[in-house]
Amino acid sequence: MSEQTGGIDNVMQETRLFPPSEEFASAASIGSLEAYQQLYDQAKADPVAFWGELGQQELHWFEPFNEILQWDEPYAKWFVGGKTNVSYNCLDAHLDTERRDKLAIIWEGEPGDKRTLTYAQLHSEVCRFANALKSVGVGEGDVVSVYMPMVPELAIAMLACARIGAIHSVIFGGFSAESIADRNNDASAKVVLTADGGWRRGKVLELKKTVDEALEKSPTVESVIVLKRTENAVEMVEGRDYWWHDLLDNVDDDCPAKPLDSEAPLFILYTSGSTGKPKGIKHTTAGYNLYAKKTFEWVFDHRDDDIYWCTADCGWITGHSYIVYGPLSAGATALMYEGAPNFPEEDRFWDLVEKHQVTILYTAPTAIRAFIKWGDHHVEKHDLSSLRLLGTVGEGINPEAWIWYHEKIGSERCPIVDTWWQTETGGIMMSPLPGAIATKPGSCTKPLPGIIPAIVDESGAPVGQNQGGWLVMTHPWPGMLRGIWGDDERFKDQYWSAVPGNYLAGDNARCDEDGYYWIMGRIDDVINVSGHRLSTIEVESALVSHPSVAEAAAVGRKDDLKGQAIAVFVTVVGAEPTEELKQELKQHVRNEIGALAQPDDVRFTNALPKTRSGKIMRRLLKDIAEGTESVGDTSTLEDYSVLAQLRAQDE
Ligand code: WT7
Repeated sequence: MSEQTGGIDNVMQETRLFPPSEEFASAASIGSLEAYQQLYDQAKADPVAFWGELGQQELHWFEPFNEILQWDEPYAKWFVGGKTNVSYNCLDAHLDTERRDKLAIIWEGEPGDKRTLTYAQLHSEVCRFANALKSVGVGEGDVVSVYMPMVPELAIAMLACARIGAIHSVIFGGFSAESIADRNNDASAKVVLTADGGWRRGKVLELKKTVDEALEKSPTVESVIVLKRTENAVEMVEGRDYWWHDLLDNVDDDCPAKPLDSEAPLFILYTSGSTGKPKGIKHTTAGYNLYAKKTFEWVFDHRDDDIYWCTADCGWITGHSYIVYGPLSAGATALMYEGAPNFPEEDRFWDLVEKHQVTILYTAPTAIRAFIKWGDHHVEKHDLSSLRLLGTVGEGINPEAWIWYHEKIGSERCPIVDTWWQTETGGIMMSPLPGAIATKPGSCTKPLPGIIPAIVDESGAPVGQNQGGWLVMTHPWPGMLRGIWGDDERFKDQYWSAVPGNYLAGDNARCDEDGYYWIMGRIDDVINVSGHRLSTIEVESALVSHPSVAEAAAVGRKDDLKGQAIAVFVTVVGAEPTEELKQELKQHVRNEIGALAQPDDVRFTNALPKTRSGKIMRRLLKDIAEGTESVGDTSTLEDYSVLAQLRAQDE
């Protein structure tokens, strides 16, 4: 039952504990709770000195920094006065080592074509493309929009921008012309990089065509560089559009990395948040680079013989930090895959793991729930014994999905790192270190060294153990966002005004008796039933623990009596969506959590509305549950037909 707390009620009862195996821990670089604790305590005693020392060791400095942190809340400058280059740290830094001929990228296209690039080869490709960018007039401080399929050239383009001090703004290949134009205009993009197309579920996504449409409304864009990928016909505008390969014909393969100020902007990445116009999250050079590198090494316990696969797209922060910048700075071998997880069959991921002998797999809960729905036989066809570590990111993982991942994919052998972070944080903030911290399904466990979170109530006062409240960060960290592009007011208002002196993450969380953090969902999504404040993830996890439920979303809708009533949207697996099942699910939640969490409405649906990055859009569901039209931003919605279907059920 619920504990009445005054904050968010904690109703989740998850007591299973999974310590790392002796074998895993003994080989890990941080192999015991004591080792983690020691590092954590040392960092906490003087976070600035801790990061200063790492900054010194881990990055190449053309010119040394003279101050570790200048903190003029909410404006941070890390490694002040120093000059470095992210592309140098990812590439050149390895060239005089034995990693020179190590594979940096193993790539597989959706049709099954393959390419590999060693560090030396990637370096030379990046230099050449950096020169190509220069040849169309791109220089330091210019913004380059990147709207490309998941091919090696996408990573090459990002690194080439970083090499010359241009600022990339990667736009996920599923976004519309309108969204591209908005982003081009907000950032005053000078150049757009795209391709004739990309492969998705056996079909060509016509990227260039979408860019052409966007450019009708993007007055700042002067040139477009087009990669040939799918060989479909595209229109080329004379004087504006260039073929990627043509530009490469005339360039040198030497392009020294430009020494850049520590705080030179590295990229802008637009995130919609859940309402309003997309905001351009700004990340800069040295602090971001250090943070991506160290968190990659800590969380994935990286070893030189790992084949690491992060299934995200480079259009998201996960792709920036954990496909490109973190792994490459650390000298890892990263697998990159272009296409859909269910093409040609629902076993494509497991086929890739087996074929490439992947040792570390990092994916999203939404994907895991899809795999569960598609059936275990797709997994069982493949030998997954190369895997040693699993990770998740993007949403909370329902404990039942966690257990499935642990048993079916990890054969109960691989630790799971549930990583909590945000586009704004630049890198992972809370996660198990897999050799050191025993996991609990559904908890992101503990903060990384140098990260000092707190959970507070609306007055900013810390809440007690197991009480839900706002998750804040009490100290600056090197990977933190440096602002919202062109919108200082929004930056201050959204992250720094609610709890003075602290970064407001926008999530609710609680911390248990072992110091483990449990994310309870977005602050805006809290459901208030008769004064009990419930978190969405807890109701959803109770539903997902029912054998007939594949996925669930819980929202609060207005209720005259209770303030809010709980409405849930459910996709079923292996069962008929009957009235009996509705009653059974209501009773199931009641049994799992208690009477106050019993849903008033249960609606069945074939799919839930999600952002393109796979997050459930509860805000839209709330509107549907209340029967009001949605007025918020739907530009990130993956599939509009889902909304239409859900609305149709109202009739
Ligand atoms: C929001 C950030 C982090 C890169 C991808 C998403 C939710 C993320 C977890 C997790 C519970 C999580 C939070 C967060 N979230 N990871 N492990 N457990 N919730 O980045 O699009 O900026 O979203 O995603 O609500 O605030 P993003």
